[in-house]
Amino acid sequence: MTANILNGKELALSIRQNLKQQVDALTNKPCLAVVLAGDNEASKIYVKNKLKAAEEIGIETSLFLFDNDVTQAELENLVARLNEDKKINGIMLQLPLPDKIDEKAILNMISPEKDVDGFHPYNIGLLQNNSDNAVIAATPKGIIRLLENANVDFEGKNALVIGRSQIVGKPVAMLLLNKNCTVTVAHSKTKNLENLVAQADILVSACGCPKLIKGSWIKQDAIIVDVGINRIDGKLCGDVDFDSAKEKAKLITPVPGGVGPMTIAMLLENTFLAYKKQNKL
Ligand code: GUN
Repeated sequence: MTANILNGKELALSIRQNLKQQVDALTNKPCLAVVLAGDNEASKIYVKNKLKAAEEIGIETSLFLFDNDVTQAELENLVARLNEDKKINGIMLQLPLPDKIDEKAILNMISPEKDVDGFHPYNIGLLQNNSDNAVIAATPKGIIRLLENANVDFEGKNALVIGRSQIVGKPVAMLLLNKNCTVTVAHSKTKNLENLVAQADILVSACGCPKLIKGSWIKQDAIIVDVGINRIDGKLCGDVDFDSAKEKAKLITPVPGGVGPMTIAMLLENTFLAYKKQNKL
């Protein structure tokens, strides 16, 4: 890897090692409930990786599997039960849920103290208030941690976020605003994306369009964070054309090995923090 690579794999490993030491010192271990409903192949892989990473650092896990025909009532009953269960510190519903399920209604039911994904409106409100008590969604939190670790200066920088999802685009835009960036959020209806990219000092792309952003579009010495996980002919790639972009970027995340590992590390950190808060540690 060349010098300008933002290595998420390496940072995530050191975060997990640090968490492991802290979990090892506990008599009662944190416990994460993971809910997987439906047969989305990518979700199955993400869940497998999250469970493995949790177990490696001593966080206990409880997996709840449902078919695609799971009902709203079944999922709501489960969340109600997990909210009450003192043994469970964190609840993670892997998204997307099956089509006919009202996703928001279920996410809103999760107790904010156990909402390790930071998707509950209470936690989103705390994020918008720039509160230290906010539980921040794992991917946006991981992106900011990766940039902080590389000593990126945020103040007054033009940050462009491509994508406005609840999971990545909106929260990462808010975090960048809280860091005093001048933030633009682009999305599928945005015009002249290329011109916006040309002005961005910091670019976070989470649009799911393989290799959309070309090296020729980006500003010299820009900082590029690629959240895309796409495939071209079966081969994994991001939203950014890495080979041309890395020649111009000051820092750039690879796919894989950039943001992905940070998401998992931040989920584990959020679970550990939830445990500490619940146990008043
Ligand atoms: N689906 C894609 N990313 C995520 C995530 O960070 N959390 C959950 N719960 N589901 C996801």
